Amino acid sequence: MRAGPVLFRVTSAVLGVQMLLGGLLTFGFISVEAHEAAGFVLLVLAIATMAVWLTTKPSFRLMRVLTVMIVVLILFQIILGFATLGTGSQAIALIHFVNALAIFGATISGTFLVLRWNQMARVPKLI
Ligand code: HEM
Repeated sequence: MRAGPVLFRVTSAVLGVQMLLGGLLTFGFISVEAHEAAGFVLLVLAIATMAVWLTTKPSFRLMRVLTVMIVVLILFQIILGFATLGTGSQAIALIHFVNALAIFGATISGTFLVLRWNQMARVPKLI
């Protein structure tokens, strides 16, 4: 399988873990460090995924736009996370939660787009 779909799947899996860690943090089962570290791992993975999709041939415009959007949302999410820690504001924590749902939604859409791209990019076998 090619790098774009593989990286997208790994990023989605880490996002799942990060959402779980967020829930555990909110209910006081873990301290913030693991959630913070996973946040930065997720950002690095999302940037790598975006870089691959921006250069992949044949190009798939929807995936290009989506992977850029996911990186922007994660950057915003990290800023919101530190703002929540810095201020203790429940309103910012709520925006952090809503933005997490937006990232999750974008990732689900991407999963279906990747399936479509896999079919489009497959070279038909002669015979
Ligand atoms: C790396 C920087 C991040 C920091 C410092 C951070 C910080 C926090 C904090 C303090 C909470 C608890 C909020 C509360 O008081 O209820 C939280 C919860 C949560 N975080 Fe993060 N976060 C970060 C990144 C992320 C990322 C990248 C995601 C997902 C894409 C994410 C998803 C969540 C979710 C789903 C929750 C549970 C819902 C909520 O209470 O907002 N966080 N985070």
